[in-house]
Amino acid sequence: MEKIIQEFYDEVDFDAVKSCNTSKKSSCVDCHSDSYFETTEIDYSCLNKRKLYVVRYLPVHTHEILSALNLIPADSVNELLSKKKLNVACLGGGPGTDNLAFNKWLYYKRLFSKRNVSVVRVLRVDRCKEWDAISKRINFKFFPDDIKLKRKKNNHDVIKHTLDVNKKDKANLVIISYLISELDKADLPKFVDNLKIISADKAKIVINDRNEAAVKTKIRKLFELLDSDFISQVNTEHCGFSYEDEIYKKSSPKVYARSINYVGNI
Ligand SMILES: C[S@@+](CC[C@H](N)C(=O)[O-])C[C@H]1O[C@@H](n2cnc3c(N)ncnc32)[C@H](O)[C@@H]1O
Repeated sequence: MEKIIQEFYDEVDFDAVKSCNTSKKSSCVDCHSDSYFETTEIDYSCLNKRKLYVVRYLPVHTHEILSALNLIPADSVNELLSKKKLNVACLGGGPGTDNLAFNKWLYYKRLFSKRNVSVVRVLRVDRCKEWDAISKRINFKFFPDDIKLKRKKNNHDVIKHTLDVNKKDKANLVIISYLISELDKADLPKFVDNLKIISADKAKIVINDRNEAAVKTKIRKLFELLDSDFISQVNTEHCGFSYEDEIYKKSSPKVYARSINYVGNI
């Protein structure tokens, strides 16, 4: 993780805001932070913003998503890992945060017993195609090297397009981190249609998002539309990653988890 953060930090231009035609903020860090409080339609078209996202959020979001994955009940984990081929979908996967957390989860779950799984297909869906180049540098990290990894991506919009996958590739596990906070409640039925289309029988859904009333209302609505029970937990702990002093001072990363996790069925 240190290497990824250092590489992306080295590529951020902290002075870009001075010649920026879009932002009226005094720094790129403020522009990045404030976007999450000013609108739900976040614009990820700025390369500097995307790189800052990796520096500021990758460790803590990975930690939060890993906590969410650890909420999957043991019998469901056994069922998932007893498959020879496991299909995973990360919706709103952005830079590959969800892939990274999944890779770590898979690594830890196989520490003491290798299980059956020998091929994993991970589909990352994100309407922002500009994430693709960044994701390619992140989404395979920590993946166990004795399993075949098939990385796929799709730049569809989960509420405007109809997603589709071949029957053999339908997801057994769907991971959704900080996407629902960016969707309108009115668009949830279309989103749920897509979830059903891309998922296999008995698929598990794992959600990580802001622990805020409006977001929790949307997530409960989503489970109602899925007709699924769910379990949940709140995360508040430190992400466990220590930033170099200079990186910490210049990029003001989020280091404490501030999210809520849900696990249910599709
Ligand atoms: C806050 S980022 C989360 C990235 C990553 N999952 C994480 O937890 O760090 C939200 C992502 O959802 C994507 N997104 C937002 N609305 C979307 C939509 N309607 N369809 C597809 N992707 C969407 C954005 O482009 C962005 O990459």
